[in-house]
Amino acid sequence: MKREELNHPTVQGNKLHKLKVNIQEAKRQQKDTLLTFGGAYSNHIAATAAAAKQVGLKSVGFIRGDELALTPDKWSPTLKRAHQNGMTLHFISRSDYREKNRPDTLQKLQQAFPQAYILPEGGSNILAVQGFESLMSDIESQCPDWSHLYTAVGTGGTLAGLVTFAKFKSHRSILGVATLKNADYLMPIIAQWILQTTEQKPVNHWHLLTQYHMGGYAKKTPELFKQLTDFKNTFGIDLDSIYTVKMVMAFYDQLQKKLLKPGSKIVLLHTGGLQGN
Ligand SMILES: Cc1ncc(COP(=O)(O)O)c(C=O)c1O
Repeated sequence: MKREELNHPTVQGNKLHKLKVNIQEAKRQQKDTLLTFGGAYSNHIAATAAAAKQVGLKSVGFIRGDELALTPDKWSPTLKRAHQNGMTLHFISRSDYREKNRPDTLQKLQQAFPQAYILPEGGSNILAVQGFESLMSDIESQCPDWSHLYTAVGTGGTLAGLVTFAKFKSHRSILGVATLKNADYLMPIIAQWILQTTEQKPVNHWHLLTQYHMGGYAKKTPELFKQLTDFKNTFGIDLDSIYTVKMVMAFYDQLQKKLLKPGSKIVLLHTGGLQGN
């Protein structure tokens, strides 16, 4: 397991990599604020607030669920901590939230917050993808003969970043475990990010596994919690209940089904998310 949950105390796991180049770009554009979107338990909201504070930027979060606006006592620990880290929170209805990626919505938002650098939900964009070079080179040097690399997938930026910077040999593959139901729509998005950042054509070297969503995004099942507890008891490593536990379950399932050949060198990427626990 590549323990990226240990890479930073507050901007943990894949978030450190996804935010890095975006923050450089925000500074280059002389913006003074990071503005982004997320749900009440979003790791990305938590990480953006913490990262902005650390680098001296302001932060603004548009949060799904306008019912929370008048009930701060019902805020999740994620929102409370983001607020403590200086994030200004705006609560919007679910229907408004669905409009967040529309060009006209983004344009209005940019006009309302001219000094803001806007990051999409989950923080995935082409600069986030570019942030995975150092992680991939760590993996190459720490486990030079890796054959399989597993990662959890939400929006797909992390998978795209790993594929972009991996050195592919014939026997190598990167397996992204989708945590949302019906995640096939992510395939062309991920493929496009990869195409935009690398000359190599890693077509057959990455796969999106869509059968391990365990009922859907953020669904809590006894099976998930059993895996989480067993993993902790066996290895002393905490997993999160939305992303990394599904990645581990996918790995065990493939192992049991003998889809991994003897002699494989398998890396499981711990992408963090422990603030959500
Ligand atoms: C802990 C954790 N792991 C994995 C992912 C998936 O990353 P991505 O959205 O880049 O696919 C996320 C979501 O961003 C996450 O918070």
